[in-house]
Amino acid sequence: MVMLILYFLTLIVRKSKITDHCLAIVILANETAYTFEWVLRAFLEAMFNRTPVSVVTDGDRAMQRVIKIVFPLARHHICLWHLSRNAQANISDKNFTATFSRCMSSWWTFEEFDREWRSVVQHFNIEDHPWVVEKDQPQHLWAQTYLTKHFFTNVRSIQRFESMNVALAIVLNSKKTYIDFVHAIEIGINDMRIKELKENFVSAQSNPYLSTKLTDLEGSATEFYTWASFGKFQIELKHEILYRLIHPIVQIGDS
Ligand SMILES: *[C@@H]1O[C@H](CO)[C@@H](O)[C@H](O)[C@H]1NC(C)=O
Ligand SMILES: *[C@@H]1O[C@H](CO)[C@@H](O)[C@H](O)[C@H]1NC(C)=O
Ligand SMILES: *[C@@H]1O[C@H](CO)[C@@H](O)[C@H](O)[C@H]1NC(C)=O
Repeated sequence: MVMLILYFLTLIVRKSKITDHCLAIVILANETAYTFEWVLRAFLEAMFNRTPVSVVTDGDRAMQRVIKIVFPLARHHICLWHLSRNAQANISDKNFTATFSRCMSSWWTFEEFDREWRSVVQHFNIEDHPWVVEKDQPQHLWAQTYLTKHFFTNVRSIQRFESMNVALAIVLNSKKTYIDFVHAIEIGINDMRIKELKENFVSAQSNPYLSTKLTDLEGSATEFYTWASFGKFQIELKHEILYRLIHPIVQIGDS
């Protein structure tokens, strides 16, 4: 029997960094729409009917359909890494894969995107390729153009989550019982939670050093920026205090 694991992961933005937080792990008997729908509805119930705002998946078609039914308001897109992999497998041209990646991640307007995508498809002479025809339909699932203004906290790939699979595969490969397997998952989750606790503790107990005279502004930034981002913000702020306002400009005229 095949055993499939489905992870419900979310990102928690904390002061020090963004961490993965595992909400649920589900062991599935099969990957049918029926099973997915049952799982998503159970998940929704467990979350007190709070629908996710954005969903990133590996592009499984049954899952795509079910997401539309169970989370009709969620914005769904397919993981960039999986999309690139499919592009390479279907078109088998590294140049195309690179160009396709550019189309996926560029912050173009709709017109720009249409123009660029048309010319790419023409250039590689793949207008009638079934994979391209398919990509023309649910554009909104892959192009940045169609995702702009939707909340994804810059998560465009779930490759990082594949590490969960790697960690658990060791357990899956060996001949163990379901009970052993469930125990192993629990241990894995516990390890993740302990790591989270430690990170929380460290960021709650320390603060970056303030070095400008704009203490209020600088101090408030320590509340929500990660340490790395705060460093960049601090440099900007230091440039900013070199300027002083002498006269406000009321109107800019020809003279
Ligand atoms: C998939 O799994 C569900 C739940 O165990 C079961 O009811 C269903 O018959 C299975 N479908 C197939 C095609 O195996
Ligand atoms: C082509 O892409 C589709 C997704 O669009 C994917 O399911 C399929 O596996 C890819 N084909 C090959 C030969 O890998
Ligand atoms: C890919 O692009 C490079 C540089 O533009 C070119 O030299 C090469 O022939 C192209 N490869 C294919 C398979 O089209």
